[in-house]
Amino acid sequence: MTMAPDTLKWDFIGLDTRYRLADGRVTRRHYLDSAASTLARRGARQVADELLRHYANTHSELHFSARIVGHAYDWAHAQVLKFVQADPERHVAFFAGSGCTALLNRLARTLAARRPERDVVLVSLMEHHANDLPHRRHAGQVVHLPLTGVTPALGMIDLAALERLLEQYRGRVNYLAVSAASNVTGIVNPVHDIAALAHAFGAWVVVDASQSLAHLPLPLSDNGSPDRELDAVVFSGHKLYAPGSPGAAVTRRTLLEDTEPDEVGGGMVDDVRQSDYQVTARFPDREEAGTPNMVGAVQLGAALNLLQRADMTQVHAAEQQQLRRLLAGLSALPGARVYGDLDLQRTPRLGTVAFNLDGLEHGLVAAVLNDYFNVAVRNGCFCAHPYVRELLKPELWTLDVDLDAENAAALLEPWQGMVRASLGLYTRDDDIEALLTGVRELLARPDHYRALYRVDAGGHFRHRTFAAPAETLFDPEAALDRVLARLNASNDML
Ligand SMILES: Cc1ncc(COP(=O)(O)O)c(C=O)c1O
Repeated sequence: MTMAPDTLKWDFIGLDTRYRLADGRVTRRHYLDSAASTLARRGARQVADELLRHYANTHSELHFSARIVGHAYDWAHAQVLKFVQADPERHVAFFAGSGCTALLNRLARTLAARRPERDVVLVSLMEHHANDLPHRRHAGQVVHLPLTGVTPALGMIDLAALERLLEQYRGRVNYLAVSAASNVTGIVNPVHDIAALAHAFGAWVVVDASQSLAHLPLPLSDNGSPDRELDAVVFSGHKLYAPGSPGAAVTRRTLLEDTEPDEVGGGMVDDVRQSDYQVTARFPDREEAGTPNMVGAVQLGAALNLLQRADMTQVHAAEQQQLRRLLAGLSALPGARVYGDLDLQRTPRLGTVAFNLDGLEHGLVAAVLNDYFNVAVRNGCFCAHPYVRELLKPELWTLDVDLDAENAAALLEPWQGMVRASLGLYTRDDDIEALLTGVRELLARPDHYRALYRVDAGGHFRHRTFAAPAETLFDPEAALDRVLARLNASNDML
């Protein structure tokens, strides 16, 4: 069944969440933090809740419930494969952890063990720490790939520089670890061109698709040719409208066959004797030791299925419109600086925009946007310190801080970061307008807002008179009491 675009657009939990603000108004939250985690798609959650009626562990065919859960879990794997147009005969999808970090660590260990003679990994400068540190730790020498352009207008991965590095380390590069899109600037990398180049030098390509899969169609190969096929793709389900779901990976089976899986335990063996054990040849079982997060995986499968029904090309087109609105709005404001190349023809981007405002610390901007405009944005370095520092380099230099001074870090800290607004399927024009209104206000009255805040010992901006402690907004204990009250009321009715 296809769906009307609007049905899909508003089927999320939390779109009407309201908070009381520092000026006493109660307004709707404008959620612009989708790059961190997207809101939950209600339909996908409902499928998972329905599955709970049959809940049982998988790995059994005998009782009805185990059979049902096993079937639903297989379906979830199939949704992942289908979403990236993988070939179920040649590829495998498997789940692990609560995001893609566990899978990137796993792949780093596995690929390093497969080709120990290849001791170099090329990692792009724009990676999230999750797609950098595992390779440093497990896979040998990491060499960082430069980006096109000049800071602060850096672009995508520089293909010419990549080719030079592949030549320089010929025969030594095991794999490349690159993101399909940055979690800081939303800049999109030409991952299939990168794969073609890497393969010409016998290197594999691991793509972190956490920031792109919900926003842009990403087939494993863009023309069906194995040269341009991504060797491994990983992503986090909580960035695909399915909070509580695991991370997922799709790889070629041949990358994993003939080596012992990285993790061992129940469910991935055919036989265990006191002296030895026999790993099963069955995929994905051999990659999923232990009881998997079946309910979360089914929720993710449902979220992917719904995205496909919405048509990813249309999803992308709609989000591009919102992105253009946001970029145009920010670029029109003197005093607002947006990071990364802004020429969308040369450097495609997704709906993640990092910016700063002249003379205003990123922490202060994010606090004011929250407290006075109910706009949820993120600030800091977004777990991409090398990239953010590179983008900020010219600004940090103008601060004229003596880097050898004892208090250098403290002086730099408030300026070492950005504000990030990120969009999702549910982003409305008035969400973007709320952000732009807040930014305009901040630029118009910086001293007014600064005076309302103090900086605490942890470096966080705290309002001097307004506080909204989390437990006053949501208290699990109180929520439980409400559940129990409802339960008692329904018992009384019997
Ligand atoms: C591009 C990218 N890669 C990896 C991660 C890490 O994901 P997780 O924390 O879900 O493992 C993130 C999270 O923000 C990300 O944006």
